[in-house]
Amino acid sequence: MSDVSSQEPHIPVMLDEVMRALSPQAGDVMVDATFGAGGYTSAILATGSKVVAIDRDPNAIAAGQALVSEHEGSLFLEHGRFSNLDALAQLSGFSQVNGVVADIGVSSMQIDHAERGFSFQKDGPLDMRMEQAGVSAADVVNHCKRNDLTRIIGILGDERQASRISAEIVQRREKQEFTTTLDLASVVEKVVGRKAKDRIHPATRTFQALRIYVNRELEELADALLAAERALKPGGRLAVVTFHSLEDRLVKRFIQDRAESSGGSRHLPQTDQKTPTFEQVKRGALSASAEESEANPRARSAKLRWAIRTQSQSREEDRSIFGLPRLAELDILEVIK
Ligand SMILES: C[S@@+](CC[C@H](N)C(=O)[O-])C[C@H]1O[C@@H](n2cnc3c(N)ncnc32)[C@H](O)[C@@H]1O
Repeated sequence: MSDVSSQEPHIPVMLDEVMRALSPQAGDVMVDATFGAGGYTSAILATGSKVVAIDRDPNAIAAGQALVSEHEGSLFLEHGRFSNLDALAQLSGFSQVNGVVADIGVSSMQIDHAERGFSFQKDGPLDMRMEQAGVSAADVVNHCKRNDLTRIIGILGDERQASRISAEIVQRREKQEFTTTLDLASVVEKVVGRKAKDRIHPATRTFQALRIYVNRELEELADALLAAERALKPGGRLAVVTFHSLEDRLVKRFIQDRAESSGGSRHLPQTDQKTPTFEQVKRGALSASAEESEANPRARSAKLRWAIRTQSQSREEDRSIFGLPRLAELDILEVIK
């Protein structure tokens, strides 16, 4: 994950590929589960499709009001989490939709505004809450048990030095709690070190881990995929863009699971055998073109997977297919706060 620190507006990633996968037609209803700066939404609206757009960040919703006025009756902008995308689409008046697209992660606006606390390059409060409510990154580093911190940083950041980083954090917070991003970044840098050949900042992985944990991003994504299965009409399309392997793995597992028949034991009655709920059109993920990756560094790690909803009924919710990591409950920190 790279930290994009320009004040450029958010550039939609893999827009052409997403539009081909989603294939919106005039009169369709599409859910843009991650409105952000409305890049995907605007492109979908231009096809004559209606859009239910969702974002958990109140700033994105406020900034999107001008677009709502421009597209009255076609754009329905909902503040909420994409794990509830089926309920949010219903709130806008659509019980079934023709497409769901999600572009997972943070927007350039969130990274660029230092006061949101996502950036290790600009000083700001150690916050990272997309929703601007609930447990912050500061709450996590100041109150999580050391073992829990090690697991969060190690698993969600894929950071080999997680144990040393958490030891240093715990030692430091006993003297003085963390309140700012640069304070944490400098402590992590002290542990990890910085070599001239390193392409990324030494705090990149720790910040990624805290962001994913604070926003429950993996659980949100897993629940969004289940919600999309419920919301899509037969023939409806699901397209998901992710930016790191933990997220991509969830999408891959879900599509593989749903594209296979299961429970196919000859001892089971026919009714217990599950038919595919999605057709996987292309095996494997699509990446951004070399030109796009050159022009927009954010696109370099992007992966797009997509699938088409079949006629079969949604399967029972079973999160075990995702293999979500077991981490400390965020709610416990809510109590400490
Ligand atoms: C990468 S940006 C999307 C950019 C958008 N595709 C565009 O072209 O402007 C991701 C957006 O998703 C939002 N988001 C992340 N997780 C979410 C969730 N669980 N529910 C709703 N919105 C979420 C973020 O607040 C952010 O605005």
